[in-house]
Amino acid sequence: MHSPESFALMKRKGQKITMITAYDYASGSAVANSDMDVILVGDSLGMVVLGYDSTLKVSMDDMVVHSAAVRRGAPDKFIISDLPYLAYHLSPEETKANAARLVVQGEANAVKLEGGSASRLEAIRQIVDIEIPVCAHLGLTPQSVKRFGGYKVQGKSEIAHEEIFLQASAIEEAGAFMLVLEGIPEILGKKISEAITIPTIGIGAGRYCDGQVLVYHDMLGYSSMLPKFVKKYAELNDQIPEALNRYCAEVRDGSFPGAEHTYFPII
Ligand code: KIV
Repeated sequence: MHSPESFALMKRKGQKITMITAYDYASGSAVANSDMDVILVGDSLGMVVLGYDSTLKVSMDDMVVHSAAVRRGAPDKFIISDLPYLAYHLSPEETKANAARLVVQGEANAVKLEGGSASRLEAIRQIVDIEIPVCAHLGLTPQSVKRFGGYKVQGKSEIAHEEIFLQASAIEEAGAFMLVLEGIPEILGKKISEAITIPTIGIGAGRYCDGQVLVYHDMLGYSSMLPKFVKKYAELNDQIPEALNRYCAEVRDGSFPGAEHTYFPII
């Protein structure tokens, strides 16, 4: 299994890191049978799986249940689980207890949190201090959707560009082992990836990050959200209704179940 050190080594060797989200036993098992380096149990589960309009309603209980289900499907993969909104904002005690829950009950190898402000850096230090690896997340951080006023590309102005760049270095200094960069101009993704020694994982952050992450349902064509950066590697939104309709038709015309799908058929 991978480790924070093996990811650092991959960056040093120029080997790209592959990451995908997963949310349950089935998606975890599917990823377990692939070459993927890392699974992210993202709080995007709130939107993709639970149908919320943002990630803000996702709870610690949700994350623990889904993280443990993914682990059962993927016993040997390196799993990062998201700390949901308000799980690391209120007190150091709660931050550490929530991170520990994701690792102990959710069986994750590491946790992820969003932002690079002074209090987020302190949260990273607190969690690293209790021996839990932390992946940070900058740019279009979905838990900040209210402050951003929507899901908008971040770091476009000179000031915002500089702020994100400085936060990336501070995150490395605070002890994070990996940094997700989401929804930023390619030039900023490149600058950060060259300036810090921990691996950067991009999603809508251009071609120069040390790895890439996509949402499972998006890349399989199994969601209705299609940001510019998503490439679809399958078309499940077409294939699944087709399969369901074939099943309905066969039940209605009596061709399913045939003898081959029947225990001890009469003839
Ligand atoms: O929750 C999530 O899936 C994420 C990725 C989009 C990076 O944070």
